[in-house]
Amino acid sequence: MSRTERTQVGIVGAGPAGLVLAHLLHLQGIDSVVLEARGREYVEGRIRAGVLEHGTVELLDEMGVAGRLREQGLPHHGFELQFGGARHRIDLSGLTGRHITVYGQQEVVRDLIAARLATGRPLVFEAEDVSLHELESESPRVRYRHRGAEVELVCDVVAGCDGHHGTCRDSIPDGVLSVFARDYPFGWLGILAEVAPSSEELIYCWSERGFALHSMRTPRLTRLYLQCAHDEEIEAWPDDRIWEELHARLDLDGWTLGEGPIVEKGVTGMRSFVVEPMQHGRLFLAGDAAHIVPPTGAKGLNLAVADVRVLAAALGAWYREGDTAPLAAYSETALRRVWRAEHFSWWMTTMLHRPPGGDVFDAKLQLSQLAYVASSRAAATSLAENYVGFEPDPA
Ligand code: FAD
Ligand code: DHB
Repeated sequence: MSRTERTQVGIVGAGPAGLVLAHLLHLQGIDSVVLEARGREYVEGRIRAGVLEHGTVELLDEMGVAGRLREQGLPHHGFELQFGGARHRIDLSGLTGRHITVYGQQEVVRDLIAARLATGRPLVFEAEDVSLHELESESPRVRYRHRGAEVELVCDVVAGCDGHHGTCRDSIPDGVLSVFARDYPFGWLGILAEVAPSSEELIYCWSERGFALHSMRTPRLTRLYLQCAHDEEIEAWPDDRIWEELHARLDLDGWTLGEGPIVEKGVTGMRSFVVEPMQHGRLFLAGDAAHIVPPTGAKGLNLAVADVRVLAAALGAWYREGDTAPLAAYSETALRRVWRAEHFSWWMTTMLHRPPGGDVFDAKLQLSQLAYVASSRAAATSLAENYVGFEPDPA
């Protein structure tokens, strides 16, 4: 069985980028089809990022999808930098007038899926063998298989929102994209534990044993991360070892980390990666499909949302007024924010992680930088304005 369908914008991937784009287009009366390789349960259960920038929350609010986020999201007006046996607060609100909100990525995705389904517009889960064709023509096509049927989706444009390991970026002919990448010789071991957070604020901790991060999801769920080897085997980390290491890095005189049952654990490698341009013919890449950052700056999800905000506005101008200029400038516009976030994420990562084989010289530089950020209003403001996110766009 095979059939041909038509839409204005074919969106590959139902992560934050694809789902936000679909809803922003819907609000402008633009038709789209979202194709997702995985099932709904899998996508809604995938635990990833947790920090939403001020601008991300405002956008979700303007889109009418922030009801639960406003109720359950945890506004944070600062965070702690820990090093040398002490904590130093970075006063995000005092320094920038803006704050961040802790709300799990999978909750954002759940809210967006509910909003998409409520519009009655198509969201296809378990779309198999998605492939892109005729990207340089005015009618690019997306082929896929669904429930045994071969479908050809004829589009005006295709949005590649299928993450770092998706198919869209690889559909661009060799030689078109420039790739800029850096791999880090460490990763993060992340856990979710059923215990009240031990601190009201996030703690980014430098320790001689390596980086640790105390975060949270709800008043009863703590999210914790440990620097580990980039190819660490999770089997090497029974729960006792994880707690022991977290205590060794995070505990201070008079303060100890609370423990609870670990309900999820996993290892993530760390990489910086950007392709330029974020467009080829009628294919526009957004989010992790075009770039990734190491998670230390909490930027990945926020960047994905920022990309599609630019893309949705450009597509709106094109459909409404026939104005091609914003769409032609999409890549250049999005890349300004991408590179700012790439630098910030690299900077936070190199300041806070112990490089394997690193010597005392490395440690002294890191500690000097941390002391500077903790004591200088200028340095703290620079960190804070990058962390809460630039509005509207970095120069
Ligand atoms: P994704 O969320 O990856 O969504 C892409 C979607 O496309 C997925 O649903 C995928 O199933 C689908 N897809 C893939 N291939 C195909 C295909 N061929 N056809 C159809 N659909 C396809 N960021 C932070 O800021 N902090 C963190 O702590 C953090 N932790 C992370 C942990 C992990 C394990 C990972 C992988 C990422 C983490 N990130 C973190 C990054 C952040 O989650 C991403 O930047 C964010 O998910 C990007 O959104 P996206 O929509 O671009 O891509
Ligand atoms: C979380 C993740 C991050 O990458 C970060 O920098 C802060 C918090 C989190 O998952 O809560």
